Amino acid sequence: MDKSTKFPEGFLWGTATSATQIEGHVVNEWTDYLAPDGGHCRVACDHYHRYEEDVEWMAQLGVNSYRMGIEWSRLQAAAFAPLNPKELDRYVHLLDCLKAAGITPMVVLHHFSNPPWISAAGGWLNPATIPAFIDYVTKLVAALKERVYLWNTFNEPDTYASLTYLIGGFPPFHKWRFHSYRKVIRHMAEAHGQACRVIRQAGGFSKTPEVGIAKNWTYFEAFQKYSLWDHGLAKFCHYAFNHFVLDAFLGGKRREDSTFLGVNYYGRVRLNHFQALVPTNGVSDERLKMLGIVSDDMFERHPSGFGRLLEKFHRRYRLPIYITEHGAASSDDDFRISDLTQHLHEMHGAMNGGADVRGFFYWSLLDNFEWQFGYSKKFGLLSVDFNDKNLLRKMTPAGEYYRGVCQASTVPPEENIHPSLSSCC
Ligand code: FCB
Repeated sequence: MDKSTKFPEGFLWGTATSATQIEGHVVNEWTDYLAPDGGHCRVACDHYHRYEEDVEWMAQLGVNSYRMGIEWSRLQAAAFAPLNPKELDRYVHLLDCLKAAGITPMVVLHHFSNPPWISAAGGWLNPATIPAFIDYVTKLVAALKERVYLWNTFNEPDTYASLTYLIGGFPPFHKWRFHSYRKVIRHMAEAHGQACRVIRQAGGFSKTPEVGIAKNWTYFEAFQKYSLWDHGLAKFCHYAFNHFVLDAFLGGKRREDSTFLGVNYYGRVRLNHFQALVPTNGVSDERLKMLGIVSDDMFERHPSGFGRLLEKFHRRYRLPIYITEHGAASSDDDFRISDLTQHLHEMHGAMNGGADVRGFFYWSLLDNFEWQFGYSKKFGLLSVDFNDKNLLRKMTPAGEYYRGVCQASTVPPEENIHPSLSSCC
């Protein structure tokens, strides 16, 4: 084993999920959504009833941490209402099960869903959502601070705001509303700042509280070197989805609110005649292969960009970093294992270069409801048989591999890399 790939003592090795994608029985804007594959989130993995079993699976995986969502719509029936005691107890019990298994939780406060009364009042376009959210956060933090010290305020605000108001992929399915996109980001950034202060000032935590957003980073590039319009579009996307968002959450005085930066990294989008060359945009595998683009079932892979990004974030923000999500959707586990190995080596290289990376959360623990794509994308370290009424979970080869990584806190050398990924940059 290559000694240089050993990770520091106390490094968090975890998996990540979100409430709407795994719990089932949620009442939010996704409840009535039907994906093109017929999938909906009404039962999902039924984690709502099976969390004890899922914690046992996590223990088998050997993870020491877990990034999980808490669903706002379960806990408050109206703005400023008290937290629902039965639903709170369920989360408390889940946290106690995690503790008993030696697993440190990171709680995500907002992950692509809202209570129906928030959506009915205009969602994050309405500035009144900010105090309502802060009231919820204040109550939740008071209830959980003995059990949770790692807090993730917003998951991928850019993905949320663009899919709801620019691309029309998430409820309420609006398109090309740039003004709304910017407004949502600004309101979320304000809520983030206030939530950070609530958390950092709460006192009574088991450990010094840590708080940050999870920023999805995508590289946008022109596929053809000399295509001016694709370069222009790539620049615009980079500005709107990376620069503007990071500036809203971490620019100027806001930089002092967060104690860490969460990074979700899946790869790159290359543009050709204004078309995004990724499977999620309907581009076929054959076409991508022909163009030499290596992707999983969703996004182009770009492992070398990962190391570069972490070093850049380190230089720019000087904040501890958690990799709040990385994973690959594929039914080919050799591909997923190679993808993971490459990204972990990149991450380790960036750490050698000074980046203060404190943890890595694999997306995802379970195959789950992948939003507008239903159940067709397989990210799970555990597969779930959605045709079986017992929603049978099974360890995958990628899960076995990750168990080895978590237990030894090292990454095996980059040998036997999957042929398609060996040409990947
Ligand atoms: C991220 C989301 C997560 C999941 C993965 C594949 O953008 O945060 O919920 O959809 O992508």
